Amino acid sequence: MSSKMPIRSRPRRNRSSEAVRGLIRETSLSPSNFILPLFITEGKNISEPIEAMPGQSRLSVDRLVLKVKEARALGVMAVALFPKIEDRLKDSFAKESTNAKGLLPRAIRAAKDACPDVLVISDVAMDPYSSDGHDGLVKNGLVLNDETLPILAQMAICQAEAGADWIAPSDMMDGRVGYLRSALDEAGYTDRSILAYTAKYASAFYGPFRQALDSAPRAGDKKTYQMDPANRREAIREAQLDIKEGADVIMVKPAIAYLDVIRELKSRFAVPVAAYQVSGEYAMIKAAGDRGWLDADAAMMESLLSIRRAGADMTLTYFAVDASRILQS
Ligand code: PBG
Repeated sequence: MSSKMPIRSRPRRNRSSEAVRGLIRETSLSPSNFILPLFITEGKNISEPIEAMPGQSRLSVDRLVLKVKEARALGVMAVALFPKIEDRLKDSFAKESTNAKGLLPRAIRAAKDACPDVLVISDVAMDPYSSDGHDGLVKNGLVLNDETLPILAQMAICQAEAGADWIAPSDMMDGRVGYLRSALDEAGYTDRSILAYTAKYASAFYGPFRQALDSAPRAGDKKTYQMDPANRREAIREAQLDIKEGADVIMVKPAIAYLDVIRELKSRFAVPVAAYQVSGEYAMIKAAGDRGWLDADAAMMESLLSIRRAGADMTLTYFAVDASRILQS
C-alpha cells in the first residue's frame, strides 16, 4: 500500500462527536430492564452490611420496603428477594421454605402491599433453608432429583400465596420447570410466571452471595446439578427443555463470563432472556473501585451495557439502583 493511497472508509467519522455517537448507538440501558436482588433478614430497622458486597446489606422487612420504594422512584420496577434464614430453622428438608409465616412470605407481602406495581420475584431452591446448603435434598452425599421436586413445588406455592409475581427456580433439578408449572396451575396460579435459571453454571462468582446468606454447601460442591463452565451446547439443551416445560423467561447466570451463552440463547429462542450479574461480578468491580484501580461507575455501566448488547432483555444486578441513578442524571 502506497503512502498516498486514499483511505475512503474512515470509521472514526462515526465517532467524531457525542451527537454522532448518539445517533449510531446500538444499545442503551434503562432502569425498566433492571431487576434488583435484595437480601432480607429478621428484625426491625436492620441494615447489616455484607462484607464481600460493599454497598449491599441484609435488610429487615421494614427497611426492605423503603429500598423497594427507593428503587421504584428511580424506575426499577422489579426486585428479587433472598432470605437469610436463621441456623436453628434449617433442616435437611428445608421445611422453613414452606412456612407461610416465614421471613420470605412476609417480605413478599410487605413489598407488594407497599408497591403493588413493582414485580416481586422469589427464588426457588433449598439452599438458604437447608442444613446441607444444597439446592436439593441430600441423601448419602447425593443430591436427589425427583425427591426434591415436591419440596420445590410446595415452596413455590407458598411464595405464590404470599403474592410473588414471578417464581424463579434456581435449583437446576431436571424437570422442575414443568413440575412447578403443573403445581402452580393446579393451585390456581396460572397467572404467575416462571423465570427459569436455565443456564446456571457452577461458578466461583457466587461466593459473596453464599457469604451473605450463609448458604454454602456444607459438603461437596454443586457440580452435579449446576452446569460446567466449559459448555455452551448444554445451555441450548437446557433452554429447549425449560421452554417446552413452560418457562416464560430463561436466564443465563453469571453474566459477564457467559456473554456468548446469552447471545446463543437470544438468537435461537423467542422467549425473553434474562442475565444475572452475580455477587462476585459486583464484588470485583466494587473492590477494584475502592482501591482506586478503576473507575467503578464507568466499569459498572460498561458491564451492564455489554450484558445488554449480548442480548439480555433484562438484567438482575446489584447495581440496579446505582446505575439507574446515573441514567436519570
Ligand atoms: C440459590 C442461588 C444462588 C444464587 C442465586 N440463587 C447461589 C448458588 O446457587 O449457590 C447466586 C447469586 C449471586 O451470586 O449473586 N440457589
